[in-house]
Amino acid sequence: MTQRTALVTGGTGGIGSAIVRYLAGQGHRVATNYRDPAKAEAWRKSMAAEGIDVCMVEGDVSDPAASEAMIRTLEAKCGPVEILINNAGITRDSTFHKMSYQQWMEVVNTNLNACFNVTRPVIDGMRTRKWGRIVQISSINGQKGQYGQANYAAAKAGMHGFSISLAQENAKFGITVNTVSPGYVGTDMVMAVPEEVREKIVAQIPVGRLGRPDEIAHAVAFLTGEQASWITGANLAINGGHYMGW
Ligand code: CAA
Repeated sequence: MTQRTALVTGGTGGIGSAIVRYLAGQGHRVATNYRDPAKAEAWRKSMAAEGIDVCMVEGDVSDPAASEAMIRTLEAKCGPVEILINNAGITRDSTFHKMSYQQWMEVVNTNLNACFNVTRPVIDGMRTRKWGRIVQISSINGQKGQYGQANYAAAKAGMHGFSISLAQENAKFGITVNTVSPGYVGTDMVMAVPEEVREKIVAQIPVGRLGRPDEIAHAVAFLTGEQASWITGANLAINGGHYMGW
């Protein structure tokens, strides 16, 4: 296989860590960004203990200038980004009638605007080299909506609109752009949902349990593979049957 440089934004999180493991397992050089140096160093060491050497770069993906600087630093350290996973995401759940402008903006900036901030500085290089893989990690809640998540669902739905436009613009340059929409996976983000609410959600999942991060990472590895060259503009739902749109 060809070894490539893969950037997973928010790689230190639950789903992000699993994606880092999978891509490293395929032989790629994997990079991630961080904001908190102490947390990042502890995470880097835990990955190193698993035999995975992650290229770490400081940068806030919700900030356009910081993201551009982060990409330039990363490319100087680890080579041009050929695989990009826009994975960084946060929640600020609240019913809309109680939602503040700040809760709205934090979620839109980190989940959606980050796709612009991080992809814009890598797209020219991918077009020049005539190869690229871009995957947005969206959510089931971008597809079906969710009580208490007008901000998150709007941002996550926007990510797929971004994917399908980029997919059209870049298809002739060997670049595929896809979306993965995970359902409820047993990460810190989902475990922060109040237990009684979470139990009701799990009861709606036909498979009968929360997902595992590796079940998402497996699909990301598939979509970024050499042979996935004719899959572009797709939105792959991985949710235990919780939402079966088409
Ligand atoms: N459908 C219908 N009614 C609902 C509801 C639902 N899904 N969820 C809550 N309600 C109702 C409650 O029963 C309650 O009704 P009563 O007032 O009649 O008792 C009412 O809404 C509470 O409304 P409030 O505005 O007072 O809400 P709150 O301040 O108590 O908090 C909430 C509401 C923040 C939405 C809370 O219910 C919550 O955290 N829900 C979980 C939201 C969620 O699923 N987040 C996903 C996070 S994980 C993730 O995002 C990862 C991913 O991609 C899947």
